[in-house]
Amino acid sequence: MTQVSARLASLSPSATLAMSQKSGELKAQGVDVINLSVGEPDFNTPEPIKEAAKKAIDENYSRYSPVAGYPTLRNAIVAKLKNENGLEYTANQISCANGAKQSVCNTIMVLVNPGDEVIIPAPFWVSYPEMVKLAEGTPVIVAAGIEQDFKITPAQLEAAITPKTKALILCSPSNPTGSVYSAEELAGLAEVLKKHPEIIVIADEIYEHINYIGKHSSIAQIDGMKDRTVIVNGVSKAYAMTGWRIGFIAGPEWIVKAVNKLQGQYTSGPCSVSQKAAEAAYTGSQAPVEEMRQAFERRRDLIVSLAKEVPGFEVNQPEGAFYLFPKCSYYFGKTDGTRTIENADDLAMYLLEVAHVACVGGTSFGAPECIRMSYATSDENIVEAIKRIKTALAALK
Ligand SMILES: Cc1ncc(COP(=O)(O)O)c(C=O)c1O
Repeated sequence: MTQVSARLASLSPSATLAMSQKSGELKAQGVDVINLSVGEPDFNTPEPIKEAAKKAIDENYSRYSPVAGYPTLRNAIVAKLKNENGLEYTANQISCANGAKQSVCNTIMVLVNPGDEVIIPAPFWVSYPEMVKLAEGTPVIVAAGIEQDFKITPAQLEAAITPKTKALILCSPSNPTGSVYSAEELAGLAEVLKKHPEIIVIADEIYEHINYIGKHSSIAQIDGMKDRTVIVNGVSKAYAMTGWRIGFIAGPEWIVKAVNKLQGQYTSGPCSVSQKAAEAAYTGSQAPVEEMRQAFERRRDLIVSLAKEVPGFEVNQPEGAFYLFPKCSYYFGKTDGTRTIENADDLAMYLLEVAHVACVGGTSFGAPECIRMSYATSDENIVEAIKRIKTALAALK
């Protein structure tokens, strides 16, 4: 019988999308589900960005763009990196793609040979290990629990490095934990990397602007790191543009050239109209970004204070992104009389079916003792969700 390739068979389906789908099905049956499983801002794209897209359509931005993206967009990204991050790049060091997701995948695909190792701190964004597997590389998972605020130490990084290590994927602010590496913590990791100049850092900074501790720090800002770092970023989270699908890499020209070659055979340049919208996002007023950030910060404070009151939950103080990642292993082995909770995925399913609150179990983030809750939703939903969760958990003995 004809079958799909071994490459595809080894790929796990996206757990976050699966949970969204399951909660969508319940909603379609008329169940009042509060969805804390989504990974996107609940705001609409700011008006000036939408206007720029409409204008782009009227001006016939309807043809193939250069594979790396329009020079005007890449120049806007160069200016952003200089003004916001103090980093000097040229337009040739930027390649735009269909979202940061494709940017991460492109980078992995052009760097990783079969058998190469890629260090991925856990908890991790679900797609990283799967992308490494697609490239026939080996994900090397380095676990960082809540007691270390879900961040790896220089000693852990050092211990994970082998002659086969090709890259380190660093996500800060982090999905799913909200943890943010400080400039000092990044410097500590960079100290280790200095001894291993062949390792490339893939720095996923898609949550850069959703940061509650002040200025964003990039590992590329540390002496000696820029020429071996690929920054991944995009407009999805900062500008509430998840559906527009524009991300980018900024990095050494040899990697950018390779990504352009891959993308030229694979997808071509991303959507022309979306590129013009992204250009408007980077060159226009940044006030909406700050407004949304403030709303997320208020909700962070709300959900943290409420979740700390949930018996059995261990909660960290997320410093960025819009996720809370409580440790909930207290409930493992407990039962409501009909089912026993073995792990966080069971707990997420229990909360969906009993409390009608959709969260995502931590297994696919490399942390089976935690669940992920997105607080990119209204204050009312946050309050009601935690109330329901508390009631449902109280029934577990
Ligand atoms: C850590 C991380 N990186 C990348 C992405 C992908 O973003 P984009 O919508 O730009 O593809 C996401 C989206 O959830 C994310 O959480």
